[in-house]
Amino acid sequence: MTWDRKELKDTVAKVLGEDTTLVIAANREPYVHVIKEGKIECDRPTGGVATALDPVMQACGGLWVAHGRGSGDRKVVDKNDCIKVPPDNPSYTLKRIWLNKEEEKGYYFGFSNSSLWPLCHLTYTRPSFNENDWNYYKLVNQRFADVILKEIKGRKAVVWIHDFHLTLLAQMIKKRRPDVLCIHSWHIPWPNSEVFRICPKQREIIEALLCNDLLGFHIRYHCENFFDNVDKVLEARIDREKYSVIYNGHETFIRAFPISADFRAVSEISDTEEVEKAVQKIINEFSLEKVDYVLFGLDRLDYTKGIPERLLALDRFLEKYPEYRKRVVFIQIGELSRIQIQEYKNLNDMINALMSDINWKYSVEDWSPVILLRRHVPLKQILAFFRLARACIVSPLHDGMNLVSKEFISSRIDEDGVLILSKFTGAARELSEAIFVNPYDIDDFADKIKQALELPKVERTRRMKTLRGVVKENNIYKWAGKVISEIKKIQK
Ligand code: F6P
Repeated sequence: MTWDRKELKDTVAKVLGEDTTLVIAANREPYVHVIKEGKIECDRPTGGVATALDPVMQACGGLWVAHGRGSGDRKVVDKNDCIKVPPDNPSYTLKRIWLNKEEEKGYYFGFSNSSLWPLCHLTYTRPSFNENDWNYYKLVNQRFADVILKEIKGRKAVVWIHDFHLTLLAQMIKKRRPDVLCIHSWHIPWPNSEVFRICPKQREIIEALLCNDLLGFHIRYHCENFFDNVDKVLEARIDREKYSVIYNGHETFIRAFPISADFRAVSEISDTEEVEKAVQKIINEFSLEKVDYVLFGLDRLDYTKGIPERLLALDRFLEKYPEYRKRVVFIQIGELSRIQIQEYKNLNDMINALMSDINWKYSVEDWSPVILLRRHVPLKQILAFFRLARACIVSPLHDGMNLVSKEFISSRIDEDGVLILSKFTGAARELSEAIFVNPYDIDDFADKIKQALELPKVERTRRMKTLRGVVKENNIYKWAGKVISEIKKIQK
């Protein structure tokens, strides 16, 4: 059976019961209102998790609590700071939390993205820790907890927490409502204990995470790292049979749930006339009729994504295989991200420099090998880029899952196209028909680009068919259904 929206809805109703409210707590909101030329527009943010969870909430209904940071966000909410979403088919409630600049700086740019993010991703970017950031992190976690507790007052609820921004939330909620079930889905890697132990707040974080009833990672390896960490830091009982930790009399079940994309929806949108038209528009805009192959990358501009490595590999590829010059264009969509943090500014400068060096080195007449688009690109256009690409390059240095790879596969209704995928993504465990790269091994990466371009049609189809089968079967509804169903099992 392939899971779909109805299956998930029925499962959630059966497991939670009609009288239980499902609350999602995530830093990022699924819809953001922005003021453009004096008018308010509703955008979808970039970032895999918010995109993946939206269909889940559309199926189940409930409340999503998030930081509202769009320029038009305050203008459209009711007096309770809520708005029904999605705009064209309101099916759940988004409640926005407001942060001032100091709070955002300490909680989001500080402890979340200058401490935990580099700590958990092994990219040799040094994490920094300071007490001020930690205090704001605690304060904002408490703000989320207070808002949620107020919303669920007198009601049964399950709170489903997401990511590294809200590690303290379950503890804060359980303190006042021990009856509320808390699930935490951790969407980034959990590193080994040697790495995590440099965090001055490791004990506080692990203790707080152990207030959840269920703690989900994307792969088993990260569950194992977490167990090791608990073992080193706390006097807790680890039950390897049940795959759980008992601490302070409370049992937390640890599980691997590999997150996925909404395969069917992406496939259907990819099959529309609008996407067809967008393909043609892109060909015209970038004069792509003159080249044989398009290589494509789509990422937030983040140092974990291996974008400089991708450019270096392209450089090496064009150097080593000059017969491909003038025949290939690499298009990278990269929306600016977390640009207030110095490392992200440096990355941006590095990408600019690499791109201009490569284009200077190889450009002839009206052909340049690299095109970088920094603008926000709407979904249908992204699908058009996916469909145009001979190969999509997904080359993170480290990634919990990586949903771009699964969205690319979902979009390829023509069963063509090649996925070049980093070995260091969670997705690499499932997508075995990709062409794998170690992004640090530039020479090999260059050869893999060549291999992808030279793969015969019949082999591309065989691989893509298999990949589509995997993502179709293990789609986002199955992921959410498995997480929620686990509640029933652990309650027994
Ligand atoms: O990888 C987990 C994740 O939450 C993704 O959804 C997203 O890419 C990123 O982390 C958070 O990005 P942002 O800081 O832009 O919300």
